[in-house]
Amino acid sequence: MGPDLKNVKILLGVTGGIAAYKSAELCRHLVKSGARVQVIMSDAACRFITPLTMETLSGQPVHVQMFDPARRPLTHIEAPAEADILLVAPATADYLARCATGRASDLISAVTLAFAGPVLAAPAMNTNMWRNPATVRNLHTLRDEHGWHIVAPGSGELACGTVGEGRLADTDDILRALTGLLRKDLNGLRILVTAGPTVEDLDPVRFISNRSSGRTGYAIAAMAARRGADVTLVSGPVSLPAPPRVTRVPVRSALEMEQAVLGRAADMDVIVMAAAVADYRPETSAPQKIKKGTDDTMTVKLVKNPDILLALGRLRGTSDRPVVAGFALETEHLVENAQKKRAQKNAHIIVANLAQDALDGDTTRAVIVDDTGETDTGGVSKEALADRLLDICAARCGRSR
Ligand code: CTP
Repeated sequence: MGPDLKNVKILLGVTGGIAAYKSAELCRHLVKSGARVQVIMSDAACRFITPLTMETLSGQPVHVQMFDPARRPLTHIEAPAEADILLVAPATADYLARCATGRASDLISAVTLAFAGPVLAAPAMNTNMWRNPATVRNLHTLRDEHGWHIVAPGSGELACGTVGEGRLADTDDILRALTGLLRKDLNGLRILVTAGPTVEDLDPVRFISNRSSGRTGYAIAAMAARRGADVTLVSGPVSLPAPPRVTRVPVRSALEMEQAVLGRAADMDVIVMAAAVADYRPETSAPQKIKKGTDDTMTVKLVKNPDILLALGRLRGTSDRPVVAGFALETEHLVENAQKKRAQKNAHIIVANLAQDALDGDTTRAVIVDDTGETDTGGVSKEALADRLLDICAARCGRSR
């Protein structure tokens, strides 16, 4: 049985690659699942599959041209305003490039630019095009800055005769990603997430910090908001934009973060400490720039920062709320160390990451431990890890998928 998409309004964008013929099957599945599908095709897509095919399957007029006097006028504002989600399958390298640079040169890119809801793209292209640094960069921009969701292409035999990555993802995978994005199971829950490093000042121009990018915490906040939660993101200095529908509270030092978190803790259903809080800070922060001395060495005295997660654990005592989740960065014995940390800090949940890939990688392997045992995620994206963690938090709040 297919997913239940009753009354969901989907804009289905089809851009011009050989995989365009597969969008017909996708459209059929969406309609059969109850969705209302409005198809928009690029000029190039019409060379691979006719608008008549898509019109017949979707039961609605297909739009191709920005200015088409024969059709009921579809402005690039009107269509996006009504839709719950924009699904583009296949998404060509050129379409991704246009969107990454904010072009609105044809109807599908103009609609994409004007659309404020979630965008799910399923790229399909030749392997070399997929691996080209320009495509890689565009995908990063679309995912990290525009908040797009990507169903990565699969590997296999391609239409051009080669074998490799670039084949449009299976219809089932696209449908699964789509239903995941439309889920609102966290509606009404208040979730606080911390992210990024803290920065501990030595003087007005120097500081001690760490390499945390904030991406894990931002992925959790974005996913929680998408699933309907009311999200507060207490963030150390990072270069990431605030995810849509998330209230960001910028902080700098561990002391500022402590204040921002503890001051809001009583109002929260779930608190996720994903920030890399500095364990120590300089004992004093000089009001003016410290001048170079004559000595060859310099000693900076560090004092311990408050442990925010520990404070939250104490605050909740034996209570179920807020659900408190922390992270642990480990190089070995993931489960044992995570359970130890969970007990020490009285957290409900600890996510143990392997340090080797947690810092830089796009994917990470994590073990999520709580009082029921452990879940090994295997190698997953930060978004997928966020989803798994939120599933566990949701269950503790009596919510299920
Ligand atoms: N944390 C915190 N306040 C601190 C330090 C850490 O709230 N001053 C939180 C982090 O946000 C994270 C967890 O505690 O959720 C990490 O715990 P920590 O004891 O710092 O562990 P690690 O740094 O992973 O490892 P180690 O035990 O080796 O220090």
